[in-house]
Amino acid sequence: MKKVSVYICKACGYQSGGWLGQCPYCQAWESFEETSPSPYPAGEAPLEAKRLSELKEDHEERLRTGLNEVNRVLGGGLVPGSVSLLAGSPGVGKSTLLLQLAASFSDEFSVLYVSAEESLNQVKLRAVRLGLLDKNVSFVHTNDLTAVLDCVSKLKPKILIVDSVQALNSFPGEVPLGTPTQLRLAAERICQSSRRLGTAAVLSGHVTKEGIAAGPKLLEHMVDAVFYLETGKNSFFRHLWSEKNRFGNTMELAFFTMGERGLEEMKNPGSIFSEMRKPSPGRAFTIVFQGTRPLLVEMEALVTKASTFPPRRQALGIDYQRLIMDLAIVEKRLGLPLSQYDVFANIGGGIQLKDSEIDLALILAVLSSKKNVALPSDMLAMGEVSLTGDVRSNPFIQEKAREAVRQGFKKLVLPSSAKKLIKKPQEDTIFIDSIKEVNALVS
Ligand code: TYD
Ligand code: MG
Repeated sequence: MKKVSVYICKACGYQSGGWLGQCPYCQAWESFEETSPSPYPAGEAPLEAKRLSELKEDHEERLRTGLNEVNRVLGGGLVPGSVSLLAGSPGVGKSTLLLQLAASFSDEFSVLYVSAEESLNQVKLRAVRLGLLDKNVSFVHTNDLTAVLDCVSKLKPKILIVDSVQALNSFPGEVPLGTPTQLRLAAERICQSSRRLGTAAVLSGHVTKEGIAAGPKLLEHMVDAVFYLETGKNSFFRHLWSEKNRFGNTMELAFFTMGERGLEEMKNPGSIFSEMRKPSPGRAFTIVFQGTRPLLVEMEALVTKASTFPPRRQALGIDYQRLIMDLAIVEKRLGLPLSQYDVFANIGGGIQLKDSEIDLALILAVLSSKKNVALPSDMLAMGEVSLTGDVRSNPFIQEKAREAVRQGFKKLVLPSSAKKLIKKPQEDTIFIDSIKEVNALVS
């Protein structure tokens, strides 16, 4: 029989029938690797066709954890029979979060925790550290996929946790560990098992140096949900968000701090910025919408005399193109030449914002740094700025204003068009139509 091969791009998971020098999907070079198609048939049971009316109503059972912020990102909780991937860089805290989740789920559900990377003694040390030793979780240490599946069939846990899917070996001794073939097969067979037994599985996956390579991206289309645990540079904050979620909205963000007792949920992430709320030239505040919650954001800008030409422009946590566009608006509409100045802009807390809702605050921060004048610490600005210099309202402005007030801001700078939306504006609210009016605010 002729051997059939499939070639997979290690960078993005694109499949091809033949070897390609460059991936047509992600443009990576020399990224194709030969793999054999799955030796396991996709489904063994004969197909049975049904009418939709015969189906039982889906009452959307959710397995909730004691970590409410995680429930929110999950879309309410884990769904029985689903497979989720928890992706993140090594050291970000995936194993910590998985152990905390296992412990929390075990208060109500049966949990099997497969540690494929670390020995059970290592897991125990972590559990002791987290104060989670006396929980009702069953642990196994193996990287043999078949042994894992046997164990799942026998124990039939409500929840299966695998740390990590990359460490599972599906072809012992044949294919090197961590290759796309191994990874795909492991995920595929866990998906089959979960659907059959109704287990909710959570698999961890490392984001490797090569990019998302031989990792999470490869599995994205197979699993029901993909969550990323991330951190900003030098930040002890972590945030969890979903890139794909068949059972929930992908806009939710949950914040944590990593401390002595593992990941701790931050119920009011806005407050992380408030401690830093000292008036200082170049600092401005705004509120953005992340998922279903408003989030206070501290914006920093530094405008300094340039020593090179062209001058430098750097954006951290802010979309680079947005910075360039907002600087062009400042130059043209406020007549402030910036071509002799380097401009750096930064957002704290390790988040990444690209929407136009940050325009007004970004421009205020730039002006404040350029003029070396600090904005009042209780001032907060919200609005988009068009290329013509008009200041416009944006979605959820009323909710955002409410959050600003809750966070102790009194001088809100808002687009005039938001006047009719804001029921009871703060006494000190300043409504503006055009970017020209912000000059007077920074003096
Ligand atoms: P870990 O969960 O092992 O990360 P991953 O599985 O994503 O590779 O955690 C990594 C780091 O977190 C490790 O450097 C130690 C730190 N840590 C804490 O700060 N507090 C804790 O309670 C624990 C368990 C870990
Ligand atoms: Mg780990």
